Amino acid sequence: MGLVGAQKTLVPVLRAKALDTRLPDPILGDEYAERAMRQLDPGYDRRPFGAGQLGLVAVVRAKAHDDWARDFLAGHPDAVVLHLGCGLDARVLRLDPPGTVEWYDLDYPAVIALRRQILPSREHATLIGSSVTDLTWLDRVPRGRPVLVVAEGLVPYLAETDVRRLLTAVVDAFPAGQVQLDTVSVRAWRTSGWDPALRRYGTRFRCGFDDPAELAGWHPRLEYVDEAPMNDSPVLMAKAPATVRRVYRLLNLVPGMRRSSRIARYRFGAQPG
Ligand SMILES: C[S@@+](CC[C@H](N)C(=O)[O-])C[C@H]1O[C@@H](n2cnc3c(N)ncnc32)[C@H](O)[C@@H]1O
Repeated sequence: MGLVGAQKTLVPVLRAKALDTRLPDPILGDEYAERAMRQLDPGYDRRPFGAGQLGLVAVVRAKAHDDWARDFLAGHPDAVVLHLGCGLDARVLRLDPPGTVEWYDLDYPAVIALRRQILPSREHATLIGSSVTDLTWLDRVPRGRPVLVVAEGLVPYLAETDVRRLLTAVVDAFPAGQVQLDTVSVRAWRTSGWDPALRRYGTRFRCGFDDPAELAGWHPRLEYVDEAPMNDSPVLMAKAPATVRRVYRLLNLVPGMRRSSRIARYRFGAQPG
C-alpha cells in the first residue's frame, strides 16, 4: 500500500466504517467504505469490532461531521469544501452536494494516489496531494466564497503551531465559513506514545486540547459554536454491538475518558466593525 506513519491510521477508520455496514441498523451505512476496504483487504471483516480510539467511535465521528456538513451546504450551495486529511473517506459521495459546490479532498500524495485507485472520481471534486501544513495548496482553491472545512481525525497528528497556522490562514482567505474538526485531550496526546494502536502504525498524537473552544481565540473572526458527543454518544450506545457498548460504558467511567476525544464546530463571518 506504500503508506507510512499517520497515513496508515486511515485504514482502521475505513475498516470501522466498512464494518458498520454490517450492523442491523448501521450508524453511517457507507457502502463506499465497504467496497474500498474490501479492495484493500478482502478478509477485513474476519475480526470483530474493536473498541479503541480508531474503532466504532470513528464512525460516530464521521456521522457527526456529515450531519454538520449537510446542514452547512444546504444553506451555502455556492460553498468551497476543504476536506483535509481525507484519507479514503468518501464524504463527497455520501453527501452528494450539488454541482455548484466545489469540493477539495486533500491528503499526503501517497494517500491521494491510493484514493485515485480505490474511490470513484466525481465532477467538481478535486484531489490535492500535499501535506496540509505546506499552505501553498491554498493557492489552488477559489476564494471569495463561503468555505466549509472538515478535518476529521487530522488535528491530533499535527503540531499545535501548524494547526494554528492552518486555521488562521483559512479564516484570512475566505469571507465566511464553518470549520469542523476533532481533537484529543492533553492527556490522550501526552500518553499517545504508549497507545498500542498508534504504536502499531508508527505514529503518535502531536497536540491535545482540554477545551476545543480555546482554538477560537486564535483568530478574532473565529467563533466556537458547539460540540457533538463521541465516546458517550447516544447513537453509539443505541447501535453498537453489545460488547462494544459494554467496553465504552466501562471506559467512560475512567476519569477523563468520556472527553478524551471531542468533535467541535466553529464559524466565522464578515470582519467585525
Ligand atoms: C485517522 S486518518 C483519518 C482519515 C479520514 N479523515 C477519515 O476519517 O477516514 C488521518 C488522516 O490524516 C492524514 N494526515 C495526517 N497528517 C497530515 C498532513 N500533515 N497533511 C495531510 N494529511 C495528513 C493521514 O494521511 C490520514 O489520512
